[in-house]
Amino acid sequence: MVENILLELRHISRQYPGVLALNDVSVSFRKGEVHALVGENGAGKSTLIKVLSGAVSPDKGEIVLDGITYTAMTPHLSQALGIAVIYQEFNLLPSLSIAENVFVGNMPGNRVFTDLKTAELKTAEIFKRMKININPKAELRTLSVAYKQMVEIAKALSKNVRVLVMDEPTAPLTTNETDILLEIVGTLRSEGVTVIFITHRLPEVFRVADRVTVMRDGCFVQNSNTGDLSPDELIQAMVGRKINDAYPARNAVIGQPVLEAAGIKGPGVEGVSFTLRAGEILGFAGLVGAGRTETMRFLFGADPKKGGTVKLKGREVQIKTPRDSVTQGIGLIPEDRKLHGVVLGFPVRWNISLTILRALSRFSFLNLAREKNIADDLKALLDIKTPSIMQLTRNLSGGNQQKVVLAKWLAADCDVLIFDEPTRGIDVGARYEIYKLMNELCARGKAIIMISSDMEELLGMSDRIIVLCEGRQMGELQSNEFSQERVLRLASGQV
Ligand SMILES: Nc1ncnc2c1ncn2[C@@H]1O[C@H](COP(=O)(O)OP(=O)(O)OP(=O)(O)O)[C@@H](O)[C@H]1O
Ligand SMILES: [Mg+2]
Repeated sequence: MVENILLELRHISRQYPGVLALNDVSVSFRKGEVHALVGENGAGKSTLIKVLSGAVSPDKGEIVLDGITYTAMTPHLSQALGIAVIYQEFNLLPSLSIAENVFVGNMPGNRVFTDLKTAELKTAEIFKRMKININPKAELRTLSVAYKQMVEIAKALSKNVRVLVMDEPTAPLTTNETDILLEIVGTLRSEGVTVIFITHRLPEVFRVADRVTVMRDGCFVQNSNTGDLSPDELIQAMVGRKINDAYPARNAVIGQPVLEAAGIKGPGVEGVSFTLRAGEILGFAGLVGAGRTETMRFLFGADPKKGGTVKLKGREVQIKTPRDSVTQGIGLIPEDRKLHGVVLGFPVRWNISLTILRALSRFSFLNLAREKNIADDLKALLDIKTPSIMQLTRNLSGGNQQKVVLAKWLAADCDVLIFDEPTRGIDVGARYEIYKLMNELCARGKAIIMISSDMEELLGMSDRIIVLCEGRQMGELQSNEFSQERVLRLASGQV
């Protein structure tokens, strides 16, 4: 008998057409512990916590909280019991103030007169408890992703949360922001809150979690004290095999310049210039807001730029729209798959063929057989977990949706590929496959630009790194000059 159990999930199963998302999963959580939940993309992590929050009803199983058994959970009941879930997509209202967001549906005062003053005071108190400094009166839309997440946490704290579940909270955060978040998690633990923490960044597991539960293919695999495990053992439990190197060996030959960008300018970017060669991976480093995504969106024609020229293989090209860009052979794999990457209401197969429709169509008949072959090949290559390529993309797990975005751009066969945070939300095993794929593209003479907030990945994969800070180009590092410290120094504006 383990002491201090607050919450138990018992024998939970949930079937979707063609997928057993949860297969008789039992796991228990102690009061005041940080409990990491890890596993490959599609392992069933998000589904499990949706069962806990009442968003998904299981086919079988029960939830026990404080010794009381619940066979049917609803979102309402879950909240009333003090369970709060922060999902991969936030649930906030951009045009309301921060305080209004924290107390949404829960405003002090009565139905006619809401007491905004009290809400603001209480919000300020919660922020103080979290040791962060945000003005409760500001509009939510002015906040960065990191702070929006803090507002989600504050919202949970305003309701006396006992169990706080976070689904990949650090995925969109930079190193500094992650530090702040992990500190808040520590504070909550010391107040006796149980924190369930889903992440693909394993170093975080060892930093904050007391215990870790591993899931694979809908099944519970193991549960351990974090201190009793080595990182290698954890990875092996997750993927069921050994992974020796984090980064596959490169043997690309760097060739002629493919892309020359000069003085790219626009809102938030003050002039970025660089040359990209065939076979090369050029990394872009910087803090969130440094202008990396913006620069690439200007280049790609997704947002109008104010100035700058782009040469492809020595010839100047005009890129005004993403379509111009794709025609010229430049693809952008965006960081926010929900907004820009895929059409969630389309089957996987349609998304993969989006960029190549014209090549596949002759006299406006789509070559369906070829479309299917390409989609099948890419599904196998990237190991996209779905029972069928006709499955709606929305029904895939977060990481597998990201793979669909990758597949779509690989199908397009571009000379230059811009990857914006390519492995965000992708599990360790698939991550390695993506790195191998990037290397393979380079070996075939393609050129890659990679924006990443994952410092190890940036240093491990790039041939050169350009660092931006507040829209300015701070410097360029050659591979023999690479170090985390140097990148961080440039990224924070010190030369
Ligand atoms: N609404 C749905 N319809 C059909 N299948 C679904 C649905 N929701 C989830 N699934 C499937 O259930 C499985 C588990 O998905 P889940 O989202 O729980 O994975 P996960 O562990 O959170 O993965 P990731 O790390 O990629 O976020 C996946 O195979 C997914 O495709
Ligand atoms: Mg998930």
